Formats: sequence, C-alpha cells, structure tokens
Amino acid sequence: MKIKVNENFSNIADSYLFSDINKKIKAYKEKNPNADVIRLGIGDVTLPLSSVVIDALTKASLEMGNKDTFRGYPPEYGYDFLKEAILNYYKRFDVNLSMDSIFASDGAKSDLGNIVDILGDNDVYIPNPVYPVYLDSNIMSGRRVHFINGSKENNFLPMPNVNYKTGVYYLCSPNNPCGAVYNYEQLKEWVKFAKFTGSLIIFDSAYEAFIKDRNLPHSIYEIEGAKECAIEICSFSKQAGFTGLRCGYTIVPEELMCGDYSINKLWKRRQATKFNGVSYPVQRAAEAALSDTGIKECQKNIEYYMENAHALSKLFDEKGIYYTGGKSSPYIWFKCPNNMDSWSFFEFLLKEANVVGTPGVGFGTQGEGYFRITSFGTHEKTKEAIERLRKIL
Ligand code: MLT
Repeated sequence: MKIKVNENFSNIADSYLFSDINKKIKAYKEKNPNADVIRLGIGDVTLPLSSVVIDALTKASLEMGNKDTFRGYPPEYGYDFLKEAILNYYKRFDVNLSMDSIFASDGAKSDLGNIVDILGDNDVYIPNPVYPVYLDSNIMSGRRVHFINGSKENNFLPMPNVNYKTGVYYLCSPNNPCGAVYNYEQLKEWVKFAKFTGSLIIFDSAYEAFIKDRNLPHSIYEIEGAKECAIEICSFSKQAGFTGLRCGYTIVPEELMCGDYSINKLWKRRQATKFNGVSYPVQRAAEAALSDTGIKECQKNIEYYMENAHALSKLFDEKGIYYTGGKSSPYIWFKCPNNMDSWSFFEFLLKEANVVGTPGVGFGTQGEGYFRITSFGTHEKTKEAIERLRKIL
C-alpha cells in the first residue's frame, strides 16, 4: 500500500504491558503445563457482581425484550438516571456537580485515551511511573511528553516544580501502580499551580473507592477552584467489579474555559461524533451500584480485597522490604529484593514461586527495580501466594 500510517506508533512499545505479560504466562504454561500459576498481575477483579447490580441488569435486559419498554440508542452522554446517581454519589464528598458536566463512558481507559482528541499541541506532563495509557495515547498523537518523576523520596507522589510550565498534567490518586494517595494539601498545591500556570489537570480517580482514611480526598473537586482547571475520570471497574461489564464516567465542568473555548462543549461534540453511549442494561447496573445498598455491597467486596492487601503488606513488613500502597489501594508496590531489575524479578518469581506480578519498569523508567502485585485475587490464592513469596523473598 502507498498510504501513510500514523508513524507515531513506532515511538511506543510494540505491545501493551499487560499483553506482554499474558504472552509470557502462556509461554511458561506451555513449557510447564502442571504449574499452578497464581496471577496477581493485571488488576482484574475476581469476586462476582453484587446482587443489586445483577437484579438491575436482569430487569433492564428483560425490558429490552418487551416492545413497550424496549430502548434504542442511548443518549450519548448517559441516561439522566445514571447521571443523577453519579451526582448524588459526589455529594458524599461535599462536591456539587451539574448534570451537564457528567458523561457516562464504557470505562476510564477509553476516555483517558480519547481526551487527547479535544486538546491541542500542548506540553504534556505525565507521572513516571504511572498507568501506561496516558503516555501511549499522547505519543500516538505526537504530543510533547515530559515526565514528572515519582520516587522513594517523594513517596511516588510527584509535586509541582518551578521547572514545570503550562501544559496538560495527568495525576492518578490513589495511584496506579504505586498505591500512594495525594492528601488535601498536596492536591491544593496542584490546583494552585494549574490555575497559576493556566494548565489543565486530568485526574484519574479510578481507585477512589478504596480510600478509607477520612483525611484523604476522593475527588479533585473537593479542592476549591478545581472545577476551573481539572477533568476527572473514574470507573465502575474497581469500585463495583465492572471490568467485564464496562462502565465509567468523566466529569468535564462547565467552568473549564480555554480562551473562548468551553472544554465541556468540545467534549460533548467529540462524544456525539465518536461515541454512541453505554448500553441501557449496563447503565441501570451502574445506577444500582451507586444506590445505598449497592454502595454497601460493593464496599463489602472492596473490604475483601483489602484483607488481601493487608495480608500482603504484613509480609513486606515482616521482611523489611520497602513498599507503598496496600492501605487505600488494591496495589502493593515494592522494591525488588537483591537489587534485581523488574523483569528479572518477574522471571524469578514466575519460575521459583509460580506467581505473576507486574514489573515496575512497565509503568515507566522510574519503576525500574520495583514490582507491583494486586490484592484482587481470592483469599485462598493470595494466602498461597504469600506462603510462596515468604520462601523466596
Ligand atoms: C491494571 O492492572 O493496571 C489495570 O487493571 C489495568 C486497567 O485498569 O486497565
């Protein structure tokens, strides 16, 4: 063919981090068919959906089979019933949202990747290490990317710096992969910096439901002024176990102005053109997850995972290994023993313990020498993984 392709793709890794890991597990299983491999790599949930969610999903699916209650295309920004449920959920954090600022999505990953569509040729600042989607999607679009480094010194929570200029800043709290959470003071500093420099913050709050400490913010809009400088992207995947069902939401406040341009209007325009909305049964299921009973049931699952996180943390405490996370996050981020690099430790762990985790370097160069494991496994598998880890760490 003689057409041109998007050559920016040659600037990203050949395959996505979690696809690489899957290939490695497959190859290992082919060579060792009897190996009982425990997967604590990708942050995928293992507990089934809560009963209120299933009831809502079933009822809505049956409505789709009845001529009186059948529905066609959903509204591209989400049904009002779901937007109202999200609006009410935010009231728990004393945040008042407008209905027009809420956009239902098929999960945080899509919107985190798609948001570049409405942004121009900016300098983009991305934490290192962090969830790979921010970096890959900006490189695919040929953006100028700078890194804001996380390290042991700043507890993997990078803060504004005098060298940082006007641009688009991605923040993730509770952080994926490090599990660290920005406190109110730190987020205030970010909002002040963004307003002072005229920057936009893209705040990924996909793991907010894991925050138990009342002194930590769930949403950037808990900070005064944030509606003038931040977009927030969230998901039902981890909060309500929707990794297989797919639903999330993005908040684009109407206060977000860039000269004469309303960011909210640009996002509306983009979504109306490229997105046909989330299916009706899934939106009903998401609405149910945000009902009082839904929140209680989903929190029970989160508590289950946090028991795993607690058991894993205890092992690292016992071994004196430096780690972050595990308190307000399902992830534990730890220093590889004996100064091993991340991929060597991945191979070592797979071979010696038949346990899979995620190499820290896959989240950015600053993650070299670190490793992430998730607490989304079952109690039984996690307990078994801890016994195996105890022997080799
Ligand atoms: C992760 O393991 O980092 C996440 O599960 C990936 C995702 O949410 O897309």
